Amino acid sequence: MRLQKETMSDIIIRKAAAKDVPKIAEIEKASIPQPWSEAAFADALTQENAVTLVAEADGEIAGFITGVFLFDNADIYSVATSEQHRKKGIGGKLLTGFFEALPSEVEAVGLEVRESNSAAISLYEKHGFERVGLRKNFYEQPRENAVLYTKQFSK
Ligand SMILES: CC(C)(COP(=O)(O)OP(=O)(O)OC[C@H]1O[C@@H](n2cnc3c(N)ncnc32)[C@H](O)[C@@H]1OP(=O)(O)O)[C@@H](O)C(=O)NCCC(=O)NCCS
Repeated sequence: MRLQKETMSDIIIRKAAAKDVPKIAEIEKASIPQPWSEAAFADALTQENAVTLVAEADGEIAGFITGVFLFDNADIYSVATSEQHRKKGIGGKLLTGFFEALPSEVEAVGLEVRESNSAAISLYEKHGFERVGLRKNFYEQPRENAVLYTKQFSK
């Protein structure tokens, strides 16, 4: 693991702990239509191949990112910041923290995103993700296509 505690303008990116789960689930629930349960986030914290990080702003959990890695690939399952902390660079710091937390053999990170989610798409493209495909009607509530993105780490 290459993750170092990062402190920049009152934002700390650190590994999530069990005590953070209720706030993580609250942010997720307020952010996306089909949120994970608290139990699902708690379970992710026990998985050796999962990475869940939180962003702390002035001691408050302002966002999180969670994903998994296997051999040379990783996937981001969810990233969100609380509404009052958006557009302050926290989403970007969470992505960077996620990349740094991955084992060095990981060569690419993938994710899928709702086609209409222009904020997230802009965030991902800004951080080097490239559109690689489309899954028609992948999401429900509302039904919508998923766009697939991959970021390749240069060797
Ligand atoms: C997507 C999300 C995580 C971005 O978090 P954030 O902390 O606001 O992101 P940042 O401040 O680091 O923004 C970085 C870049 O993302 C893009 N971005 C963020 N919010 C945006 C918005 N509302 N509209 C357009 N672009 C946006 C911009 O490119 C921005 O760069 P800029 O500030 O130089 O313009 C946040 O909007 C969110 O939690 N959304 C709801 C949950 C969600 O949709 N998650 C993704 C599921 S796949």
